[in-house]
Amino acid sequence: MNKSIEQIMQEALKEIKAATDRKTLEAISIRYLGRKGIITHFLRNISSLPKEQRPAAGKKANQAKQTLEKAIAQAVENFKRQDRIEDGGIDVSLPGRPSLPGSLHPITQVTNEICDIFKHLGFDVAEGPEVETDYYNFEALNFPKDHPARDMQDTFFVSDTIVLRTHTSPLQIRTMEKYAPPLRIIMPGKVFRCDSDLTHTPMFNQVEGLLVDENVSFGDLKGILTVFVHQMFDPQTSLRFRPSFFPFTEPSAEVDILCVICRGKGCRVCSQTGWLEILGSGMVHPALYENVGYEAGRYTGFAFGMGVERIAMLKFGIDDIRKFFENDMRFLWQF
Ligand code: PHE
Repeated sequence: MNKSIEQIMQEALKEIKAATDRKTLEAISIRYLGRKGIITHFLRNISSLPKEQRPAAGKKANQAKQTLEKAIAQAVENFKRQDRIEDGGIDVSLPGRPSLPGSLHPITQVTNEICDIFKHLGFDVAEGPEVETDYYNFEALNFPKDHPARDMQDTFFVSDTIVLRTHTSPLQIRTMEKYAPPLRIIMPGKVFRCDSDLTHTPMFNQVEGLLVDENVSFGDLKGILTVFVHQMFDPQTSLRFRPSFFPFTEPSAEVDILCVICRGKGCRVCSQTGWLEILGSGMVHPALYENVGYEAGRYTGFAFGMGVERIAMLKFGIDDIRKFFENDMRFLWQF
């Protein structure tokens, strides 16, 4: 008896395998597992066997039943899948397309890194409009009308009085108008200049900083910016403060770091000078305090502004600023 149930099961499995449609499968199911099915009949008859044979026979018969049920269910499932493919529906057997994990753009990463360093030094973050009035972009920053210093910044004019901001410095005025000292603010944002080559793009990012309080000295400016450079690059990085000019700071200084490529020997990247300019800075010009209505003579402070792309290029050793804006995934994946 045990042998014959095995044979029956093998036959049934063969039939299931050979079935070409769901109707045939149903018929097989009824013939073997239905109320009057062969396997069902077998199970019923177990009680007529000698007592000692019953457990083993029952076990075999039940196993056969389960095996056939599974095989039929699997075959039905395969037919269903087939139907869906033929309907032009979803092929659930296709392996999934992997979705690539996203990540922050390198410029965003560097902006965040710059802001984080200053946040740890007690600065708050502020933002402002990219389309500015001539007043905030120039006038209030002590660029008189027709002053040649406006030529330093190749401006996109929207109208006679509206510009795309050429730097983040208008935020110095906007934050001073809103808040009284003591102030420590860091201001990231996009800026625009009509300029385009290996090291310039018409849109780029800056981070502006402003600290105003009583008794702030040029020594404080040097201290804060030295800490920043050492955290951003390397604690050993040499830096120098080089006299410069901006209408809104007096005195003004540009900060250079020792060339990260040649370590000061002189190369193409640093134009043989051994130094790389990374930011503009200076003590806030008293005219700005007057423009925002601060009490005359009471406060001193410093401001600085840096180009994020430039810092990212030096940090990562990238020689063409346009790479940041081409959206070439092979480039972006490296960060
Ligand atoms: N706004 C200046 C620039 O874009 C940089 C700067 C900011 C200089 C703050 C001094 C103080 O070139």
